[in-house]
Amino acid sequence: MTALNSKLQRAIQTLLQEGVLSSASHLASVDSTNTEAARWIQQISHSHPPSSLEKSLLPRLVVADEQTAGRGRMGRSWTARHDGLAFSLVWPGYHELTSIAVGVAIAETIEYLVGPTRCGLKWPNDVWMLEQKVAGVLIERVDQPKSETVIESKPLLIIGIGLNIGSSPRLDELATTSLVEATGRLISQAEVLAELVPRLIERLQELSGQTSDVVASFRSRCVLTSRGVRCVVDGQVVEGICRGIEDSGELLVQTPAGMQRCRSGEVTQVRLA
Ligand code: BTN
Repeated sequence: MTALNSKLQRAIQTLLQEGVLSSASHLASVDSTNTEAARWIQQISHSHPPSSLEKSLLPRLVVADEQTAGRGRMGRSWTARHDGLAFSLVWPGYHELTSIAVGVAIAETIEYLVGPTRCGLKWPNDVWMLEQKVAGVLIERVDQPKSETVIESKPLLIIGIGLNIGSSPRLDELATTSLVEATGRLISQAEVLAELVPRLIERLQELSGQTSDVVASFRSRCVLTSRGVRCVVDGQVVEGICRGIEDSGELLVQTPAGMQRCRSGEVTQVRLA
């Protein structure tokens, strides 16, 4: 049996002892931490009604030293290196700015750990350093079954984060980097996790109150602003100049037909005629 990364194990123990997390699972190897988190929800919901699940076991962290079949957005796969960080956080409740808040938390953590440096955010939540992707996020929603006593229960979110630390995968379609390649600074998975998880939870908690700060933080790092972009709005492909994000987190695209708001999907950069 492979030994677990001991530094990572200690970092998780500290997060549990400090009450940042309510439960955690650390695995030597797993197909995908998001899939593992979904399996856990499926299993635990038999014995825990939604309210007790939230009170006693959430937020829950699922971390793996090795991920063999990591999943990315839009059906892509996520190639995680042994020297990268792959984890999922099970979080109660959806907010329209969840994606935005997650990207901001990752960017702020990287800047704090390896600064002075500035990260860019490519909508909705890819994190860039030096115009190359350093981290990606896959958020999946699990609706909890309604019971006789609970009419309305919060959906659970599985927030999966993959961050290149020591090296980056070579992908044909995308320029990628890692913390070490972008800054020359050596940093461990444990250090990143210990800093990122509390910040992520703080940013997610803030969404139940004032949201202007997280939106402003995203806007100041938005790499698409003023650039030509292509995305899909209401089933139609639109091209135009990105004008940043709306207070609701939608991407604003100025087109000859007026301002369009992109809510989901992939955005690509294009050269406009
Ligand atoms: C993307 O950029 O397309 C999103 C990548 C998300 C990868 C992370 S790694 C941890 C978690 N488990 C997965 O299978 N995917 C996410």
